[in-house]
Amino acid sequence: MINFKDEICKIIAENVDGISYEDALSMVEVPTDTKMGDYAFPCFKLAKVLRKAPPLIAKDIAGKLAENQLFEKVEQVNAYVNMFLSKKALVEEAVTTALDEGEHFGGSEKGKGKKVIVEYSSPNIAKPFHIGHIRSTVIGNSIYKIFELLGYEVIRINHLGDYGTQFGKMICAYRRWGNKEDVVNEPIKTLLGYYTKFHKEAEKDPSLDDEAREIFAKLEKGEPAEVELWQWFREESLKEFNRVYDMLGITFDSYNGESFYSDKMPRFVKELEEKGILEESQGAHIVNLEDAGLGVALITKSDGSTLYITRDIAAAVYRKETYDFYKNIYVVASQQNLHFQQWIEIVERLGYEWARDCVHVPFGLVSLEEGTMSTREGRVVFLEDVLNKAVEKTKEIMVEKNPEGVDIDQIAKDVGIGAVMFQELSNNRIKDYTFKWDKVLNFDGETGPYVQYTHARSASLLRKAGISPEDIKAAKDLDFSLLQGDSSFALAKLIYQFPTVVEDAGDKYEPSIVTRHIVNIAQAFNRFYHDEHILVEDEKEKLAKLALVLATKQSIRNGLALLGINAPEKM
Ligand code: ARG
Repeated sequence: MINFKDEICKIIAENVDGISYEDALSMVEVPTDTKMGDYAFPCFKLAKVLRKAPPLIAKDIAGKLAENQLFEKVEQVNAYVNMFLSKKALVEEAVTTALDEGEHFGGSEKGKGKKVIVEYSSPNIAKPFHIGHIRSTVIGNSIYKIFELLGYEVIRINHLGDYGTQFGKMICAYRRWGNKEDVVNEPIKTLLGYYTKFHKEAEKDPSLDDEAREIFAKLEKGEPAEVELWQWFREESLKEFNRVYDMLGITFDSYNGESFYSDKMPRFVKELEEKGILEESQGAHIVNLEDAGLGVALITKSDGSTLYITRDIAAAVYRKETYDFYKNIYVVASQQNLHFQQWIEIVERLGYEWARDCVHVPFGLVSLEEGTMSTREGRVVFLEDVLNKAVEKTKEIMVEKNPEGVDIDQIAKDVGIGAVMFQELSNNRIKDYTFKWDKVLNFDGETGPYVQYTHARSASLLRKAGISPEDIKAAKDLDFSLLQGDSSFALAKLIYQFPTVVEDAGDKYEPSIVTRHIVNIAQAFNRFYHDEHILVEDEKEKLAKLALVLATKQSIRNGLALLGINAPEKM
């Protein structure tokens, strides 16, 4: 694909003494107002180096660029060079690349030979899988897809919260008040009930806490009776999580969670000791990070048991030794910022030079209209309920519309679940937001259903034209000069930008950049559809327009795929 920005910088570097390609690259702008051109080059900074007035410099540069076929027009306006790309060159580049690359369009070889770990979802076993979990799950899944398209080999890890003293409490409660059937029928609700009951009872009878601690100690030692129960709780919870993952179309390569590291920790406690980083404090062990402004991290408790942070240290080293990652990405709420800063700092102090290749990708909080979520007070919205409700509601709409020749149940799933995911991926991940039913299920505006519908519209247009995508791709003599109307050009330009957008989303770990871009493509397509008569008599013109339709369809489809959302052919 011709990289126009790259070409511009090459021409400038070749023709202007004292400006390198890199300098030029850092100066080229994309004007927000297209009247100022597709690219602009400000010359203020060059006045010193070139000892010339900026407008004169701009004039020289404009003269050089104007000689090139890539541009339709190059203007000097004050200190700026404004460049207008040749419409034909850009449209041709966008359409042929999208058609040639097909489902790989938007991708690159940037990550070739590099392994990236994306850790996401990572819920706590035996706790409800609620609307808050959608964030890590869906953002992480999208980051995985983005890195995969950029050529990286991606390993997806679900770092389950399957360890800790709460399992002592749960086993204790199960033995006292529980029964097997309830756990099998409704694992999470039941186990959660045990946990809550335990807390109530322990307030009256504190000896229960000792009992739970003893049980956890046995679990840590690997006593079969405790291990068996713990494993069963884990399996039953996972069954329930997997039901939701299936609905979302999300999978993992590894479910190695906290328990997996339980026997790998002594090594790190020892390493910390040997490096003189570990301090004793009232029988517990800590690492003091005050000098880095990161407080104090508790590594082992006074009874010798390890903590969440110890397991993260062990996990990072295990992953480096097992996968030799280029980047190890954690999609985890911003509430855990300090936790991540602490353990990454500790791994660095241990002398692991790759410590900063561990990247925490934080995101903001979801709250409910009635306030923050609280498991104890029963203020939770289960993710599964949200998804089911979205599917049901979509089905009602579909039944009313009664479209011909579509599998309504399948479409309702694709569109309903897609709507929830799309909404989740629409905002900057770091922003907090309030979960509102009406908003999730509102299908108007810049939403998933709108984008999916636009995709289906492009598919229907191609069907109506009676020409197969293969025939369009095989056509040798596409005349791109026939696609120069404003709305055709605006659309082609967005398609042209798609690969850069994907790369940017990867660099910033920010799927919403893709989401916004495919909304823009959908809007531009609908404008094109409105402005242009597509199925015209003239075969040449029709073919060129259909090629643009197909390139649009491919871009939207690939964009939705990066968000983890299906793109139905009919709606
Ligand atoms: N299970 C944790 C929670 O629900 C999230 C785990 C995040 N990952 C990690 N490596 N610490 O809060």
